[in-house]
Amino acid sequence: MAESAVHVGSGKVRELYELGPERLLLVASDRISVFDVVLPTEIPDKGRVLTGLSAFWFARTRSLVPNHLLDVREDGRSLECRRLEMLPLELVVRGYLSGSGWRDYQSTGTVCGHALPSGLRESERLPEPIVTPATKAVSGHDENIAEAVAAELVGSERYEAARDVALELYRFGARRAEEADLILADTKFELGVDAEGRLVLADEALTPDSSRIWPADAYAPGGPQPSFDKQYARDWCEATGWDLTPPGPDLPEEVVEGTHARYVEAFERLTGIAFTRYLADPRVVLT
Ligand SMILES: Nc1ncnc2c1ncn2[C@@H]1O[C@H](COP(=O)(O)OP(=O)(O)OP(=O)(O)O)[C@@H](O)[C@H]1O
Ligand SMILES: [Mg+2]
Repeated sequence: MAESAVHVGSGKVRELYELGPERLLLVASDRISVFDVVLPTEIPDKGRVLTGLSAFWFARTRSLVPNHLLDVREDGRSLECRRLEMLPLELVVRGYLSGSGWRDYQSTGTVCGHALPSGLRESERLPEPIVTPATKAVSGHDENIAEAVAAELVGSERYEAARDVALELYRFGARRAEEADLILADTKFELGVDAEGRLVLADEALTPDSSRIWPADAYAPGGPQPSFDKQYARDWCEATGWDLTPPGPDLPEEVVEGTHARYVEAFERLTGIAFTRYLADPRVVLT
């Protein structure tokens, strides 16, 4: 790491270093968080999968929206990026009814204020993808908010621009996933604003940490789906009877292995690049 890199923060998954006033180094660890709790067990290479996939998407979506990517480092887990003023929002795009969207729909018939047809089943495809913003909680759980509240937080013009970008990015990722026989059920984006006031895609993008990714050939609405994301680890943790408060349970070897295999498979199917090739030369995802 460059000598000038000063540690400026830790997220649940990433360590943030300052590379001068305008640049950050985002280092993705192998930590896994489940229900917003970081587990004591790490998933080998998980940070590299997240960084490689994000860099892959950043390199391919520049024409839709500028992003913070400057370079990916040799270690495969560190991203040099432009430092931004982050919007205090996460933009969740949902193409399918799952997770908190499904729970909301069951109790209200809507998802975060979006009216939906009645009689939809769990995991069913929505007529159109919807955006459900959430606040970025400083500690604890992110909270879904209505679009009107999001518009108040950042201004309606800014919110509408961010929403449109999130929808375009989702559609782009979903098309690519479909070509790999995968379903991008939902995903989350974080955007920031640069010194010129432009909206810029930041953080990670279209990864198994930020998305629900399902195998298309096993798709069967009417219940939860098998997945290439953290759902497998989440399900295992929940089945232990854990009360979802820290500390989380230790993951047994088979769950570590199963999660690792799912993350690597998601990487390879979405990028079409062998993960070993990425490890040998991370910049392979940029072209
Ligand atoms: N270009 C950028 N400029 C400034 N901050 C950024 C940029 N890209 C990402 N971030 C921030 O860096 C952090 C990444 O860390 P990480 O993904 O581990 O966080 P998290 O666990 O998702 O959330 P939290 O920060 O609430 O713990 C996030 O807070 C994200 O908003
Ligand atoms: Mg994050």
